[in-house]
Amino acid sequence: MLGVIGGSGLYELEGIKVLREVYPETPFGMPSSPVVLGEVEGKRVAFLARHGRDHSYPPHLVPYRANLWALREVGVKRVFAISAVGGINKLFQAGDFVIVDNFLDFTKRRDSTYYEGKFSVEVEGDDEVARLLREKKVVHIDVTEPYCPQIRTLLMKILEDGRIRHHPAGTYACTEGPRFETSAEISMLEKLGADVVGMTGYPEVVLARELTMCYASLCVVANPAAGISQHRLTSDEVIELMSEKEKVLKGVVRELIVRLSEERTCGCENILEGAEV
Ligand code: HPA
Repeated sequence: MLGVIGGSGLYELEGIKVLREVYPETPFGMPSSPVVLGEVEGKRVAFLARHGRDHSYPPHLVPYRANLWALREVGVKRVFAISAVGGINKLFQAGDFVIVDNFLDFTKRRDSTYYEGKFSVEVEGDDEVARLLREKKVVHIDVTEPYCPQIRTLLMKILEDGRIRHHPAGTYACTEGPRFETSAEISMLEKLGADVVGMTGYPEVVLARELTMCYASLCVVANPAAGISQHRLTSDEVIELMSEKEKVLKGVVRELIVRLSEERTCGCENILEGAEV
């Protein structure tokens, strides 16, 4: 099943037949919102609001581990995440969509792994993830290609078919937030090769991967990043742009649910092979 994580401005999915809602307490705490289980044209989907339905979780306090674990518990094997970002690359304008293909991590105080060796949380289950946690293993996963190529390729097709302005690749820099960046930080990130900047893409991507899920992220450029923009940044600007794009985004989500083939051809599910010490 596909799990959709909605970011700023996307707190629910319409046009989806809601079957039920669960709000599981996970070994990593409560997720930031209940998980809505639904169906579109016979395909099942789960939806979770990253910041909570009332946007009460700031980026640095989102319970990323609980969120991914809650999705795992309802049977999600692939995650599609939507995020607002600031544009760093001069070619990336406000309103553009970006199918990111790599990341740079500048976060500071987030739990970014499930595998904590002798400090690992005990969980139930009999799959590889549960075994590694139960046996308190140290695990190093490969993130050479952090985002699922199968979902990214389909996203490119969907955006092309819909004639939606987008960039098929881009490097996402994740900052700690909740403040926006300084112009010097953006200048540094630009020199390091970042195309967009956000506060929530990490550790979500690696946690999903640690659970052998596929993960792809569609970013929406909500504003030119600090210093590139000629004016002071505001949350209002971000929320306004995201609400302008809400209808298009929901259409993309729907297409993805319907068109994603059941078969996983990407290799994401084998990421734990050879990863344990
Ligand atoms: N910086 C960090 N996160 C963001 C931005 C930004 O400029 N815009 C939307 N999310």
